[in-house]
Amino acid sequence: MAGTGNFSMNIICIGAGYVGGPTMAMIAAKCPQYKVTVVDINADRIAAWNSDKLPIYEPGLDEVVKSALGRNLFFSTKIAEAIDEAKVIFVSVNTPTKTFGEGAGKAADLQYWEKTARDIIKASNSDKIIVEKSTLPVRTAHAMERILNANDKGIHFEVLSNPEFLAEGTAVEDLKKPDRVLIGSQLTEKGLAARQVLVDIYANWVPKENILTSNVWSAELSKLVANAFLAQRISSINSISQLCECTEANVSEVAKAIGMDSRIGPRFLNASVGFGGSCFKKDILNLVYICEGYGLHDVARYWESVVAMNEFQKKRFVRNMIRVMFNTIAGKRIALFGFAFKADTGDTRESPAIDVTMQLAAEHANVVITDPQALDNAAKDLQGCGDCTKYVTFENNPYEAAKGAHALAIMTEWNEYKTLDYERIYKSMEKPAFIFDGRNILDHQRLYEIGFNVYPLGKECWKHF
Ligand code: UDX
Ligand code: UDX
Repeated sequence: MAGTGNFSMNIICIGAGYVGGPTMAMIAAKCPQYKVTVVDINADRIAAWNSDKLPIYEPGLDEVVKSALGRNLFFSTKIAEAIDEAKVIFVSVNTPTKTFGEGAGKAADLQYWEKTARDIIKASNSDKIIVEKSTLPVRTAHAMERILNANDKGIHFEVLSNPEFLAEGTAVEDLKKPDRVLIGSQLTEKGLAARQVLVDIYANWVPKENILTSNVWSAELSKLVANAFLAQRISSINSISQLCECTEANVSEVAKAIGMDSRIGPRFLNASVGFGGSCFKKDILNLVYICEGYGLHDVARYWESVVAMNEFQKKRFVRNMIRVMFNTIAGKRIALFGFAFKADTGDTRESPAIDVTMQLAAEHANVVITDPQALDNAAKDLQGCGDCTKYVTFENNPYEAAKGAHALAIMTEWNEYKTLDYERIYKSMEKPAFIFDGRNILDHQRLYEIGFNVYPLGKECWKHF
């Protein structure tokens, strides 16, 4: 690896995942004066970043990576070498929910973070700024600073918190024009100096007024709270979707009416089969765990209910399918349209489609899964589900998936599902044919006119009997 050469600064990122890869690609694209290196222990992932087929699907990402790759953006497995050369080290390794021991099922598993901190100490020969990009429990920076600064080389590490708020599917746009960049630091002289270095990096393309600074703990906590608030809106509207079904109110009309109140705002009010993604559930459970740690049991219960409502919504969706389809779906072909946790991504982590598939398979339905980007991940997700795999098949073409099916269920709001030829689909299906729209994206009246029995979420159903 070349040294700093003509570059004004060496920046690296440890962890070439959904967060680290796109974020660093954007910094490199916007700041040709810096050398940006992304390292990862996973050699396959690094090879993919260096190839024509990136390891993640994200609209617009190919162009951003291409514009800088080999110029000032590098992907490498030489972690120690990169650490040694760097002035600023972003850490974006995964922090999954702990599956073992104290706090299992709720606390964040910090083993990769701590291991990374120790790798950093080992490979460093000069002072460095460490930037937490991974979502971490509040006060992790403190622990990290203690581990890092216990080194016996006389090196000073300053830890900043710079949580990433990008959403998948819109990562490139979110990085180009972030609502805000949040940088938390210690309020000491060294802390403020380090913070300025990071502010200056972002100021290359983000307007100054959108770069927010705070103390480290506020920055760490803000990330968890932002995700908790977003998820809470979805659970709130999902809870109302059930009430709408009982009262002939229409959840989209309710969402529109409340969303026009500028205090509430219109976004994140789409009722759905449930929220998914790698962050919402993990971060809320983490928040719950932290609250419990401080003895705030009522606060913990409040946030826990957001996750509980989400679990309920997924169960309710399948229960409704079974009830409507004459209380048995055993042996019936059911096509799931979409498996990604949301549109425009191939990511399936915590996708509601996983739970729905498992529940349908437990009822011995023949589940056919189709998705334009997520079939590889879907197959991986379902590998570990034992018996259920014998009830599941995968199909690239939605028309083929629907052939001979008793029901279709929309799991992901892919645009292409809105414009399929539903007359053709209807003709190829068993009758009576059902559609369960878990995202409320289809034209329900038109589908009814074609002959379908249509079950939206939070709205009256359209049925022929
Ligand atoms: C992850 C977390 O899920 C999220 O909470 C956090 O905010 C940022 O990090 P993501 O980028 O989506 O987000 O994770 P993932 O795609 O799993 O990428 C993490 C990468 O770190 C993987 O490529 C993994 O190989 C790498 N890694 C992990 C290391 O390089 N070293 C380690 O010790 C552990
Ligand atoms: C989220 C946050 O938005 C982002 O700021 C943070 O950095 C990471 O976590 P992401 O998980 O990529 O991003 O997707 P997001 O768009 O927030 O959607 C999460 C889930 O909520 C998806 O399953 C989506 O389909 C669902 N959703 C979203 C709804 O069900 N209804 C809505 O109105 C909005």
